[in-house]
Amino acid sequence: MELVKQIAALIGAQLEGLTVEEIEKLLETPKNVELGDVAFPCFTLAKIYKKSPQLIAAELAKQLKGVLIIKAESVGGYVNLFYNQQTVAKLVLEEILKDPNHYGQLPMKNEKITIDFSSPNIAKPFSMGHLRSTVIGNALANIAEKNGYKTIRINHLGDWGTQFGKLIVAYKLWGDKEKIEASPIEELLKIYVKFHEEAVSDESLNDKARAAFKHLEQGDEEARELWKWFKEASLKEFQGIYELLGIQFDSLDGEAFYNDKMAIVVKDLEERGLLVESSGALVVELEDMPPCLIQKTDGATLYATRDLSAALYRKKEYDFAKSFYVVGNEQSLHFKQLFKVLDKLGYGWAKACQHVPFGMMLKDGKKMSTRKGKVVLLKGVLEEAIQEAKRGIEEKNPSLPNKEEVAKSVGVGAVIFHDLKNHRMNDVEFSLEQMLNFEGETGPYVQYTHARICSLLQKGNFDANNVSLEGLKKETWQTITTLQRFPQVIQKSFEQVDPSLIAKYCLTLSRHFNKYYAHTKILVDNDTKVSKLTLCYAVAIVLKEGLNLLGIEAPEQM
Ligand code: ARG
Repeated sequence: MELVKQIAALIGAQLEGLTVEEIEKLLETPKNVELGDVAFPCFTLAKIYKKSPQLIAAELAKQLKGVLIIKAESVGGYVNLFYNQQTVAKLVLEEILKDPNHYGQLPMKNEKITIDFSSPNIAKPFSMGHLRSTVIGNALANIAEKNGYKTIRINHLGDWGTQFGKLIVAYKLWGDKEKIEASPIEELLKIYVKFHEEAVSDESLNDKARAAFKHLEQGDEEARELWKWFKEASLKEFQGIYELLGIQFDSLDGEAFYNDKMAIVVKDLEERGLLVESSGALVVELEDMPPCLIQKTDGATLYATRDLSAALYRKKEYDFAKSFYVVGNEQSLHFKQLFKVLDKLGYGWAKACQHVPFGMMLKDGKKMSTRKGKVVLLKGVLEEAIQEAKRGIEEKNPSLPNKEEVAKSVGVGAVIFHDLKNHRMNDVEFSLEQMLNFEGETGPYVQYTHARICSLLQKGNFDANNVSLEGLKKETWQTITTLQRFPQVIQKSFEQVDPSLIAKYCLTLSRHFNKYYAHTKILVDNDTKVSKLTLCYAVAIVLKEGLNLLGIEAPEQM
């Protein structure tokens, strides 16, 4: 059994009023090692027992010493516990080694989670902004799986909407078929930008675009052909990015997929008396927020209408226990409205839908926008990162086998980690230089720590079938308690929908290990060599798993 669970059970045996699970959730890691290895706050109990937390802590402290706990102190309403290091070290390592690929894996729950992420817009470049959704969503899906859920990764492509009316009009006015075929997104973006420039002085363009989209919605042949062509060409380009990132989806059903599924929703809303006419358009009025627009004056549907039918479809198709939408914070209102309308329709599962917002990708402190052409293309960034990684390899390790592959893992890993190491709500300043800084708090630093361990294991002829857990010294302690925390971090990162906890954990583990490594000779033949290598092996397992959860590869050499 995991250590924290054992500790929670020990405390639980002394208490009434809290379950072992509740106790486990309350356990904290003290800020400072001098304060102990784990702390149990007694404030919740004070209310139940009607006694001061200090008193409860003092009484508990007297009872908790035993095989696992060598010392228990009560300090300001907390019981601070100190582990018996030898016993705990063994326990933790045994837990990792018993089933290396599954350390921290929670039992399967037989519940599904749909994760709507990436969801770029067709005929527009895959921007750095979409990178955020892609890497956060993918990490979240991995984390959910590790927490025992089955996931359905959905790329809700932006392949429908008035912008296609604009594109069709722009194409007919200024499009060049050959140029578009040669580099679709670049050319489509050009005419899209031109459309917006021209529309400033020529208002009729917007009317034409609205009409063109209407035609498209009604199935006009020419409009549909153009749309299909735009979509296929764009998808091909996006696919290249997903391949670089190593990301796959279970569904690519975008907005267009719901075109023939919206009438039912509109009818449903109407039958429940929720649709109201508002200067020709149909809306659902909401109490504490602006109304949700369902249908425009000309009968055209909207982003929200498509999201409504998508939500219904997903519930029916997948019967999700939770449904995540990994979309920028600027769409918060949209999702509030969406969930509220579902709630008004009487769907109890509206509560299971959750917007997972994130901050903006900024350039020189300002938001990036596609329309003005002020956008940094993700593909270029990834390619540059890979180039940079390759230069690093040529310099430090020119004889490395499969250089190309390693450069890809490191370059792409750098970009992903740069995004995930901060809490998702923080804005991220786009800085190629910072991403590519392979030292400091970066993905490559963690990857490098892992690779260094792999090489140690090889040089030391370590055999995973012949391990030892005896005689580990005090200086391994920080590494061991960090290893022990991994399962909790996995659970927390899911509960808080926060992959940065995993990224920060990887940095902490790397730091503790590197400190240990700097002060200890591992490859000397003495009676603790195998034990030391066993510890190294456990660290490598956990670092690799941590990186993989973030969607980053862990090369064995670099
Ligand atoms: N395509 C949209 C955009 O780039 C994001 C879609 C997010 N998903 C959703 N179900 N609305 O802004």
